[in-house]
Amino acid sequence: MDLASFFSKCEKALVSSLTEKGHPFRYPVLATTAKNHTPNMRTVVLRAYDAAEKTFCIYTDARSQKVEELDHNPSAKILFYDPQQLLQLVVSVRLIFKIADSDFYAQLPEKLKKDYATVRAPGTPLEVADTVEYDFDSGHFVKLIFEAEQFECLKLQRPHHRKGQFSKVHQKWEGRWLIP
Ligand SMILES: Cc1cc2nc3c(=O)[nH]c(=O)nc-3n(C[C@H](O)[C@H](O)[C@H](O)COP(=O)(O)O)c2cc1C
Repeated sequence: MDLASFFSKCEKALVSSLTEKGHPFRYPVLATTAKNHTPNMRTVVLRAYDAAEKTFCIYTDARSQKVEELDHNPSAKILFYDPQQLLQLVVSVRLIFKIADSDFYAQLPEKLKKDYATVRAPGTPLEVADTVEYDFDSGHFVKLIFEAEQFECLKLQRPHHRKGQFSKVHQKWEGRWLIP
């Protein structure tokens, strides 16, 4: 398999995850860096992937720690892993847009608004579990759009594992094989 086909296979998996129920790429891990330089990671839902622009979209609460960290340092990584395919993708990204899409938020059903509408900010300590209050009118919904700068694709297989690195150099995507 050549580099271009390998990359295209990885991108296809990203696109499939948006519509295929239970696809593991739907739940990647987003890593950001705190002000004190420590890494922070959390699972998120991939909401969109634009293969032409190489952009990723996730939804979150604008008051969350990840947003504060991205405001300070827009560089992040997104890790995808498919345990059946033994395929791992680590994408170096940069936050390019933070969109408080109020029209989109307004049309969400309340059960989905909940994730962005707690009265107190995410991460606030709670005395008793399940005593969260919501204010659906003043949600803190935000779409985060990340642009890819580099993909590292690793496929474990016999007889040789395969690792490809794809980077944007002067607006062009270039790939090379790496020792896995
Ligand atoms: C399966 C799963 C999916 C999740 N999806 C999202 C998501 O799409 N957006 C989000 O902000 N948090 C999501 N979370 C919660 C985050 O992992 C995290 O706990 C939360 O966003 C707070 O992170 P932060 O304090 O680092 O910002 C998800 C958690 C799980 C377990």
